[in-house]
Amino acid sequence: MQANAPIGMFDSGVGGTSIFKEVHHLLPYEQIIYLADSKNAPYGEKSRQAIIDLSIKNTEFLLEKGCKIIVVPCNTATTNAISTLRKRYNVPFIGIEPAIKPAALGSKSKVIGVLATKGTLASDLFQETSSIYTKDIMVVEVIGKGLVQLIEEGKKDSDEVHALLLTLLQPMLKANIDYLVLGCSHYPYLIPQLLKILPASVKIIDSGAAVANQTKAVLEQKKIRATLPQSSSEFYSNANPKVLCDLIQAKENNFVCEKISF
Ligand code: SIN
Repeated sequence: MQANAPIGMFDSGVGGTSIFKEVHHLLPYEQIIYLADSKNAPYGEKSRQAIIDLSIKNTEFLLEKGCKIIVVPCNTATTNAISTLRKRYNVPFIGIEPAIKPAALGSKSKVIGVLATKGTLASDLFQETSSIYTKDIMVVEVIGKGLVQLIEEGKKDSDEVHALLLTLLQPMLKANIDYLVLGCSHYPYLIPQLLKILPASVKIIDSGAAVANQTKAVLEQKKIRATLPQSSSEFYSNANPKVLCDLIQAKENNFVCEKISF
């Protein structure tokens, strides 16, 4: 595979652009092709097999575009489908998992919160990772039901999201968490709202920087990191692309941002 080939990225929708921003910042020479499967969002309420089937379809789209590596910034797709993808295809896959380890290690109250989708929290990968790092920690797991849809609709800053977060976070507030782990690619866009609700002592962590570092490490290890600036990144959505294009400021950044039938 050539160093000047693009990096592929797919997500259940617009949420993975929060991770795109981290990867683009760390690896500015790379061209990234981002696929938002917004027509099928959210993945978090689907069966494991449905998530695997959609992840295969998304991967094939990116491989047809000649991608040298596939980043899966969607927690639900990573935890349910990445082992199947790795067995099936010959390119490296970078996944994302909730940052349980740093939260568990840093927690003083020994109570941490994890906000994620039903599909992520129910997955074997999540439960196995969580049990390794949280032996002496109480983990308050909350399903962020409804949040992905609202973010997909461009309502991340709305009163509706604020009210939903107030309800969802109650068990965590009652349990006195000192870390909140964001276990969904969409949730970093809620940080401004979360800061208004959570006590200042609660640290919010997501996995975007870890995914970017891992992507860089794998590109270097495989000797396929771009050494010269490549073409502008491209964004494709199979639904109305307005929210996607706004989140990445497509015009200002000169990114291609289009609707496709997919
Ligand atoms: C979803 O599609 O339900 C959320 C995406 C994620 O888990 O990161």
